[in-house]
Amino acid sequence: MSQAEQLRQQILDLVQDYHQAAFAERPFVPGESAVPVSGRVFGAHEISLLVDSSLDFWLTTGRYSEEFEKKFAQYMGLRHALLCNSGSSANLLALSCLTSPKLGDIRLKSGDEVITVAAGFPTTVNPILQNGLVPVFVDIETETHNIDTTLLELALSEKTRAVMIAHTLGNPFNLDAVTAFCKKHNLFLIEDNCDALGAHYNGQLTGTFGDVATVSFYPAHHITMGEGGVVMTNKPALKKLIESFRDWGRDCWCPPGVDNTCGKRFDWQLGSLPHGYDHKYTYSHIGYNLKLTDMQAAVGVAQLDRLDAFIKTRQDNWSYLRSGLKPYEKFFHLPVPAANSEPSWFGFLMSVREDAPFDRNELIAWLTERKIGTRLLFGGNLTRQPAYIDQPWRVAGSLERTDFAMTNSFWVGVYPGLSTEMLDYIVDSIDQFVKNR
Ligand SMILES: Cc1ncc(COP(=O)(O)O)c(C=O)c1O
Repeated sequence: MSQAEQLRQQILDLVQDYHQAAFAERPFVPGESAVPVSGRVFGAHEISLLVDSSLDFWLTTGRYSEEFEKKFAQYMGLRHALLCNSGSSANLLALSCLTSPKLGDIRLKSGDEVITVAAGFPTTVNPILQNGLVPVFVDIETETHNIDTTLLELALSEKTRAVMIAHTLGNPFNLDAVTAFCKKHNLFLIEDNCDALGAHYNGQLTGTFGDVATVSFYPAHHITMGEGGVVMTNKPALKKLIESFRDWGRDCWCPPGVDNTCGKRFDWQLGSLPHGYDHKYTYSHIGYNLKLTDMQAAVGVAQLDRLDAFIKTRQDNWSYLRSGLKPYEKFFHLPVPAANSEPSWFGFLMSVREDAPFDRNELIAWLTERKIGTRLLFGGNLTRQPAYIDQPWRVAGSLERTDFAMTNSFWVGVYPGLSTEMLDYIVDSIDQFVKNR
């Protein structure tokens, strides 16, 4: 072993001790300890790989990114998984790649319409607008908070070219109906799988149905890298386009630090550039730089080992809350797994009923007082958000149930950092609130 290798080993051994000293579990004190909606759950292994990567001082995408992409694609049963720096970037890449001139007539063009929902996270919709396309919003179902697929035909126009939607909080949308609709009308399907990693529909993983799909690795998500995301596809042609948009729009596909993968770096004739112009600096797309660092990927590699256990705990926590809150069903629309699905829950999303003797805001104020974290269904109704008022969108039908979710829905956590004591405390707190009404 070289001296450098010995020192690296010493540092990594110390990381184990550091983790024990710095992140020892604290007892839960009701009313004093926070009950967050989400958070990172990690051990010494995550810090160890992070430090290992930092000692490489490679910094940009490297060996850990390569390992993660390979393992993650295997996990999903897909050909390609391409890392980037967030779930939002993944969505931007997923939509942008479909605008590539290399796709010829089937590419998405400015003014084309993309069917989506307004009850959700902004960056599921933003790439549509950022690419000069038009989101067409469709209402949701109250119990699943997913797209009401009976409205799809209503949303269709001559300009419809794609459907881009998320599996809301880990509960799959009706993939039978959506995939049949896309097939019938020749539309691209982009699955925002950011909140649903590990969910199944008809026994198949969500994120494997669409032409392209995405996952987020922000700390709230099933596994984390801090910041991070991935774009997945089974289509080699799309993989090349995603890579190009991610890596400055370049035509070259060499990984960082590598030259001449194509074997003709100085022998291409592209655009109206002179023959042999360096392929490394030849651009076939108006691209971005959305790569992530290898330190982020290193954390992801460690987290992947825990993914199945995390999903299982989320499902168990959700079921525990679901049965604990059943007695209060007359006050709440409680969540329901989509038909033919096994969700991989992101949170426990419920709505205060129209005729309840209290409103959502009173309840979340009470929970906040008791240090129980809550969240709304992200942007509620995006068409009502200041950023979207003047944007070129269209609504098919009404957004009545989206508005209902905006005013009546909220969620509490199910993430693996929550103990049974914490879940009991959530249920007891709701019980106390309801009994005082
Ligand atoms: C459905 C959905 N899509 C996309 C994102 C964006 O992911 P990120 O925060 O990694 O950009 C989120 C964020 O939580 C999300 O919930």
